Amino acid sequence: MAFHPTPRQLSLIKAVIFVLALLPFARMVWLTYSGQLVEPLEFITRGTGDWTLYFLCIGLGVTPLRRFTQWHWLIKLRRMLGLFAFFYASLHFTTFLWFDHFFDLAAMWKDVLRRPFITVGFIAFVLLIPLAVTSTNGMVKRLGGKRWQWLHRLVYLIAPLGILHYWWMKAGKNNFAQPILFGCIVALLLLIRVYFAWNRRVQNAKLVR
Ligand code: HEM
Repeated sequence: MAFHPTPRQLSLIKAVIFVLALLPFARMVWLTYSGQLVEPLEFITRGTGDWTLYFLCIGLGVTPLRRFTQWHWLIKLRRMLGLFAFFYASLHFTTFLWFDHFFDLAAMWKDVLRRPFITVGFIAFVLLIPLAVTSTNGMVKRLGGKRWQWLHRLVYLIAPLGILHYWWMKAGKNNFAQPILFGCIVALLLLIRVYFAWNRRVQNAKLVR
């Protein structure tokens, strides 16, 4: 089904997604301040970690969805979705730094190095920073399309690192159901993208011949 939104409709779609993407954050703030949580630290750390992963998956899903539906305008939503992954990752990290270590950077650093699941999460977060910083149109121009694209392929590393972090955390509790589910989702999304890249090469080679 072909659907090509007008610029006005696209702005509306973006505004709706923006508000929806902020709802989990609003819910966390509300539940914390209204005193309804028994373990607010655990709730916020886990909630922000979950939403980082959801937005990484949604962002990775844009290209396959765009190809399958031919809704090419979906690409215009990808930057915002990626920035929401970074937003929730920053909250996740800040929660850890704030409530776990009261902004004691030395203690935080020790913890990052001591607990492997945190080391992996930290690496994923650090790798997200250049993607967020270079997400503007100005940075795309400054870096040049090709270099920008290469840099943004870091997401192929960040998503599996996010899964490994989740897996490792749950391994302590012998509870693998969710990491396996998200691992399969990320693997499928990455495989679809590898297939598209391979297919494009084959088509280009045919054109050259
Ligand atoms: C892209 C980066 C990251 C992703 C995708 C991510 C994702 C997650 C997920 C999905 C959870 C489990 C939530 C649940 O149980 O429902 C989690 C937990 C956690 N993460 Fe992350 N995380 C990332 C980065 C980080 C960083 C940078 C730190 C700290 C330096 C961190 C520290 C933690 C901690 C302390 C927990 C909770 C462990 C517990 O409650 O026992 N994460 N993360």
